[in-house]
Amino acid sequence: MTLGYEKISFLNTPTPLQKLSGISEDLGINFYLKRDDLTNYGTGGNKLRKLEYFVKDARDKGSTMLLTVGGAQTNHGRLTGAVAAKYGMKAAIVAVDPYPGEMSANLLLDGIMGCPVYLVKPDPAKTESEQMSEGAAKVKEEWESKGEKVYFIPMGGSNELGILGYYDCAVEMNEQINGLGLKNVRIVTTVGSMGTYMGLQVGVWNEKLPLRVTGIGISPKPGGLQKFAKEYFDRVKDYYCLGITAEPGDFDCTSDYDFGAYNNPVREVREAIYYMGRREAIILDPCYTGKTFNGIVQMTKSGIIRPGENVVMIHTGGIPGIYTRHHRIEMEKELMEYIHII
Ligand SMILES: Cc1ncc(COP(=O)(O)O)c(C=O)c1O
Repeated sequence: MTLGYEKISFLNTPTPLQKLSGISEDLGINFYLKRDDLTNYGTGGNKLRKLEYFVKDARDKGSTMLLTVGGAQTNHGRLTGAVAAKYGMKAAIVAVDPYPGEMSANLLLDGIMGCPVYLVKPDPAKTESEQMSEGAAKVKEEWESKGEKVYFIPMGGSNELGILGYYDCAVEMNEQINGLGLKNVRIVTTVGSMGTYMGLQVGVWNEKLPLRVTGIGISPKPGGLQKFAKEYFDRVKDYYCLGITAEPGDFDCTSDYDFGAYNNPVREVREAIYYMGRREAIILDPCYTGKTFNGIVQMTKSGIIRPGENVVMIHTGGIPGIYTRHHRIEMEKELMEYIHII
């Protein structure tokens, strides 16, 4: 039980914490990867830790169906479909996106796991969140009329309950880090909808763990990451009546490596992906972990991460993203030299 809430434990935890010796040597730091990409079900990823709590809550409430929202290629949606399949529930995803022209990457995996995706044709006269809410309401109504009891999970699973997955992960990593005898460790994670970062940060503060948490934003947020973090933190603090406080400046998160947009193809990010693949045989994704790893490399080069520092990057998964059309096309151009017809 964490902060008074139970979960259904379906993960193969602790996930491995691996030292990457080649990259450590190159960057002059002790670089570890927390392999949350290796979590079981639906090809894995960070959202499964949040879903352990959502599935429990949904079942306690007698729900038979999980409904969530995101982009057409949402990893969170794919993993929601995965746990629904595993637990004999229905699931659906609502996305404000046109059909991308092919059923690749997460869309393909959603179909394989039997999870319908409802694509709302973007309407420039309305905001994305309006269209998402309207689409979700319509799909909810449709399924409820067929007798399902629908449990709604917000985008990325990032609400008050959703932080508990990475609260637990902070405790889990602290035990692994103690086991390795490491001190002064910096945990680095991607910041998307922020549930992962917030869970880690609240876990570290509330449990008084000797860890520093750095978040690397992958897309701009109105008002900036710190403001967004403070507002989210305050909701979490009130919800669980926590005796900790924080000001915007206490959140160590940066937008310096987001390349200005969500899920955009970026040459530097692809180079970071190739570097990780060629040095450590580990695959990153172009939307989240590739941007984060590029950020870590840049922070090391600029001295923000100091020589010899102990750094743990959380591999949050997302690998299917490599197969989305707009990223794949760019990579194909760069990697064609690896194809030889003989
Ligand atoms: C692969 C991957 N990494 C990181 C994140 C970011 O996690 P959060 O939304 O909790 O900030 C996401 C969110 O969708 C994701 O799919």
